[in-house]
Amino acid sequence: MLPTIARESHVVVMVDQRKLPTKEVYVRCSTAAEVARAIKTMVIRGAPAIGVAAAMGLAIGIRGSKATGTQKLAAEFYKLCELMASTRPTAVNLFWAIDRMKRSFAAGVEVGESVDQLKDRLDLEAARIHDEDVASCRALGAFGACVVPREARILTHCNAGALATAGYGTALGVIRGAVEAGKQVTVLADETRPFLQGARLTAWELLRDGIETTVITDNMAGALMRQGLIDLVVVGADRIAANGDTANKIGTYTVAVLAREHQIPFYVAAPLSTIDLRTPDGSKIPIEERSPKEVTHLAGTRLTPAGAQVRNPAFDVTPNHLIAGIITERGVFRAPYLESLKAAFELAEV
Ligand code: MRU
Repeated sequence: MLPTIARESHVVVMVDQRKLPTKEVYVRCSTAAEVARAIKTMVIRGAPAIGVAAAMGLAIGIRGSKATGTQKLAAEFYKLCELMASTRPTAVNLFWAIDRMKRSFAAGVEVGESVDQLKDRLDLEAARIHDEDVASCRALGAFGACVVPREARILTHCNAGALATAGYGTALGVIRGAVEAGKQVTVLADETRPFLQGARLTAWELLRDGIETTVITDNMAGALMRQGLIDLVVVGADRIAANGDTANKIGTYTVAVLAREHQIPFYVAAPLSTIDLRTPDGSKIPIEERSPKEVTHLAGTRLTPAGAQVRNPAFDVTPNHLIAGIITERGVFRAPYLESLKAAFELAEV
């Protein structure tokens, strides 16, 4: 399986996703601040993956603390939580993972654990978050395989693969699940300007798995749909609101509108950690605006004339009515999402 992120003793190791596919370089972070910087600068990206990174970052940050008492340790811990939370605003998995680490820490303090015991429990919780993410992706992949026809040409946008998770992937988890179920699948990968997650990362990891993949530029999907060359769309998600509105990589909304026009099913695949019942609808999801340089430059070369204004929202919101189903580790949920997504969590608690 792809080594997206791993813990080696008191170091967090991650493959540098800015350099793929031309260079496979690993970044080693030995402090929480280094992990936070890696998230912010997209060494690691993808909603579930940054949640895992934040949890591991907190664990190594606290492991390195010199505090001798729990009060001092707690003050340091909550400061590091703030640092992690300030890295990227849209993917809810980041905040979900930080909350889990906070709950675990508070539970330890509650029962009077020592500094060393608190450090150990944070290590354990981060490892659990990592392992559970892989298990969720595999489970949602198996559920998602059921909505894939026996022979399918699947369009995906951005990278919702092993690289965007602790392993296996969400949208690409569905594709992997379908392949494992013996279905004949070929993939069309939107290149995904400006960061090119589709062209660089999705194509790279699917080809490693021997899955036939064709890269297209973001403006080609409509023409291919019109020619009847796409059977299904599966994308990942960065935050799914309580009513099913879904924030995902910029350009996803355009694909969803095109899919509706051509009557092609459009599915979202994500673990429950991406569903945010506290956000009522898509209009309340904060959308990250990234550096204009990602648009004005390509591989260090300026593309646009100096002085041209640029927008760079990293995500958009697809309204729930365009989504055929939300594929999770608890099954495939359909409209009305307000009820079905709530039920998904109740199911999880059984
Ligand atoms: O900006 P990124 O690369 O962190 O964006 C997140 C994504 O990779 C996608 O939006 C993805 O489809 C959802 S994460 C599985």
